[in-house]
Amino acid sequence: MHTIKTDKPAKQDSGQFISKIRDFYAARTGGELSSPLAHIRTYGCQQNVSDSEHIKGMLAEMGFGFTQEPENADFIIFNTCAVREHAQDRVFGNVGALKNIKNRKPHTLIALCGCMVQQEHVAEKIKKSYPFVGLVFGTHVLHRFPELLYDALTSSKRVFEIPDEDGTIHEDIPVQRDGRFKAWLSIMYGCNNFCTYCIVPHVRGRERSRNPERILEEARELVQEGYKEITLLGQNVNSYGKHEGHGMDFPELLQKINDIPGDFLIRFMTSHPKDATKKLFDTISRCDKVARHFHLPFQSGSNRILKAMNRGYTREQYLELIEYARKVVPGISFTSDVIVGFPGETREDFEQTLGIIRRVGFTSLFTFIYSPRKGTPASKMPDPVSREEKTAWFHEMTRIQEEIAASRSADMVGTTVKALIENAGKGFLEARLSENIVVRVDGDSSLVGRIAVVEITQARSWILIGKIKELI
Ligand code: SAH
Ligand code: SF4
Ligand code: F3S
Repeated sequence: MHTIKTDKPAKQDSGQFISKIRDFYAARTGGELSSPLAHIRTYGCQQNVSDSEHIKGMLAEMGFGFTQEPENADFIIFNTCAVREHAQDRVFGNVGALKNIKNRKPHTLIALCGCMVQQEHVAEKIKKSYPFVGLVFGTHVLHRFPELLYDALTSSKRVFEIPDEDGTIHEDIPVQRDGRFKAWLSIMYGCNNFCTYCIVPHVRGRERSRNPERILEEARELVQEGYKEITLLGQNVNSYGKHEGHGMDFPELLQKINDIPGDFLIRFMTSHPKDATKKLFDTISRCDKVARHFHLPFQSGSNRILKAMNRGYTREQYLELIEYARKVVPGISFTSDVIVGFPGETREDFEQTLGIIRRVGFTSLFTFIYSPRKGTPASKMPDPVSREEKTAWFHEMTRIQEEIAASRSADMVGTTVKALIENAGKGFLEARLSENIVVRVDGDSSLVGRIAVVEITQARSWILIGKIKELI
């Protein structure tokens, strides 16, 4: 067990800077009431989306309004991702484009935060080649954002704050959520798994779990505020509480959230197969509010590659888990992440991955071509297969998955299911089933945020069509 300083309230530290920033902008506008505007762009996973909601919360307390147009903003911040090279290239491209704005409006402050800048070589590159970026801070100092922003606004120097992990959890950071009925709730941070291809443990630090009481309190508040779906977040939710001695593991936490009175759906991500236990599936089978969907990344179907990836399970163990889940939670749907072209992967290994895809019948798949990350063990492994060949495998896999998804959708025609109405399109609504499949229904936009009983009437290639039978 390692020591973790938890529950350090961020509020009192940052409060003074929040009011100082208000004063700073009031002085700049000569006391006029027009609020400064912030533009925030988020890359990467839900953890980043959730962090951005906290950045927005802090900015709102500082008196900022928000704009979709970077040209109109006084403050521009990109919350970045490092998981694949492509993600980073996009950020660099988009940051480069901000140079013109800075030239035209020198008062605009440009900031970068998140996983990408937590890497030393990236921070160095920004220091050298992107002089118009005035503030850069890493993943471990999100709670100090008001102080760092104040420094950047008032000193003539650029501010770079990228300390190593300190293993702390900071509670009570303000939050402004993007959705009115769907909410993200972080239950843990960091990752200890060190899959050999992955940068996340290097940029997010060691695994640490929030106190269950704080999580339950936040979940209760969300339900009271009318949220209809709560997604619990962590890089590996199944190892929740392993290091802290809070006396609660993930299945127990799930059960406690399920016990909160109200009509809402619980989702969670991501699960790691090596830590997904039978106890977890038994718990889900008893919990009526937990979605009948499980995101369980298997990454590769070859035992040789799984070992090289340091994943800690075999294809047989993975398939056994799926089988057990289907036995105790009838109708449960699975989605997964897959990497194609890990160093040393052969055609034979790849076919074993296809074997799992055919055998399990995933609702959908997130498929990635392996991308070497600096500082990870896999980036030093021999990688003889060409990019062209990997791309051909990738397309082959996508085609097979499309056929599987289409046939799974066709099987749903005629069934009646509950769904949360999420969006209004042009003349239709989009609702999401507990199984994480989207169905298009007729209805007017006032129904967004409601739960409905829907009859599935048709399956098209990417989408189901249905009819609302009843609103809940
Ligand atoms: N913690 C989660 C998700 C981590 S990142 C998990 O363990 O499942 C999301 C996905 O990105 C991973 O599941 C993996 O499929 C993919 N990924 C991570 N690093 C990658 C890399 N270097 N190249 C290609 N895909 C990668
Ligand atoms: Fe990366 Fe593996 Fe951790 Fe997921 S479990 S974040 S893939 S190291
Ligand atoms: Fe990207 Fe960081 Fe998430 S690297 S995938 S934003 S944890």
